[in-house]
Amino acid sequence: MSERVIPLVDQRSAALAVPLPTTPVPATGLLADTLGRPLRDLRISVTDRCNFRCNYCMPKEVFGKDYPYLPHADLLRFEEITRLAAIFLRHGVRKIRLTGGEPLLRRNIEGLVAQLAALRTTDGQPPEITLTTNGSLLARKAPALRQAGLQRVTVSLDGLDDAVFRRMNDVDFPVAEVLAGIAAARAAGLAPVKVNMVVKRGTNEHEILPMARHFRGTGVILRFIEFMDVGATNGWRMDEVLPSREVIARLRAELPLVPLEPTAPGETAQRWGYADAQGRHDPALGEVGVISSVTQAFCGDCNRARLSTEGRLYLCLFADKGYDLRSLLRSGASDDAIASALGAIWQGRSDRYSELRSSLPAEPGTGKRRIEMSYIGG
Ligand code: GTP
Ligand code: 5AD
Ligand code: SF4
Ligand code: SF4
Repeated sequence: MSERVIPLVDQRSAALAVPLPTTPVPATGLLADTLGRPLRDLRISVTDRCNFRCNYCMPKEVFGKDYPYLPHADLLRFEEITRLAAIFLRHGVRKIRLTGGEPLLRRNIEGLVAQLAALRTTDGQPPEITLTTNGSLLARKAPALRQAGLQRVTVSLDGLDDAVFRRMNDVDFPVAEVLAGIAAARAAGLAPVKVNMVVKRGTNEHEILPMARHFRGTGVILRFIEFMDVGATNGWRMDEVLPSREVIARLRAELPLVPLEPTAPGETAQRWGYADAQGRHDPALGEVGVISSVTQAFCGDCNRARLSTEGRLYLCLFADKGYDLRSLLRSGASDDAIASALGAIWQGRSDRYSELRSSLPAEPGTGKRRIEMSYIGG
């Protein structure tokens, strides 16, 4: 195996000042970027810390005990997050996802969920609120999260075999506790629970079928994610990507599947339903999904904005710079001024990294450092 070059990262050097438009951009809920894509989905990272060290996300060599996590004063406070979220909703956001790092490490996260659940979209509806977690604290937290207004959760789980799972999280965390977290989420009514499995060729590909068999017919929606070149520290290599079409072929060899229609525009996953003996989708058996950012990019209708823990707005998972909304907030700007600035930023958006990936120069030497998944969430 060739040696991997793992550069040290400090995302904090790369903030963009928020441009204040001379012509106001009022929040109409009808915003579109330069490619005509609306703004619908807001992903909020609430901490850059995690208690796991998944090798594809927070490798120990980089995220060691001296890693400079954000100091507390730099984090957006819950009131600040809620104020920004309310402005995003006025611009058309309908779905809010809390991420991390590991979001359940943020103290009183259910308090934030409750504040967000009280907001309304432009249609007067509560936003859909969901959360991505590694599941380690879920058994303890699920009832309080549900009570606070969380609707569902997505749990990251890369295998059922305890030895494989312990190796992948790299902190020797037992799989049984994550499975208990999933069970607690289901019992609390956080439905449907989704499970995300990052597939790495040569590492956990043999877990694909056991995972599918385990969750088939349970109501849990399992999605297989292609290992992505996100960030700059995970030593990504194309030969470790198992293309989704191969995942589907392996599943179909044992479990009959039929393609399903997307449920919403801009969806990340392609859906497949488990089929009955007649070859029709059997809802009782449920569905699986594949997220193919590497082999079949889905930037065409990407409606996702990302807010980092310290209040930077990123227009793409693969961006290297974010807009410093925290300074704007703390400068005393009005909601309308912030809405106008957000509108102008989104109107100028042209990001479509995954579609351009193959034609871009390689990372080293470009002078750009992409943000880390642990910093911005999924
Ligand atoms: P729901 O299906 O509504 O739960 O949302 P989702 O599919 O957006 O779920 P989730 O946030 O769990 O996304 C699943 C995975 O897809 C993430 O962990 C990422 O690995 C990947 N992903 C999500 N959004 C993007 C995106 O905008 N670009 C790319 N390239 N990958 C993404
Ligand atoms: N490629 C694909 N998915 C990733 N995730 C983290 N890093 C990567 C990567 N390099 C996933 C995690 C989790 C979500 C937050 O993002 O497994 O489900
Ligand atoms: Fe693993 Fe998620 Fe933590 Fe990254 S944030 S190390 S993917 S558990
Ligand atoms: Fe959206 Fe960027 Fe992902 Fe494309 S690569 S789907 S633009 S976040």
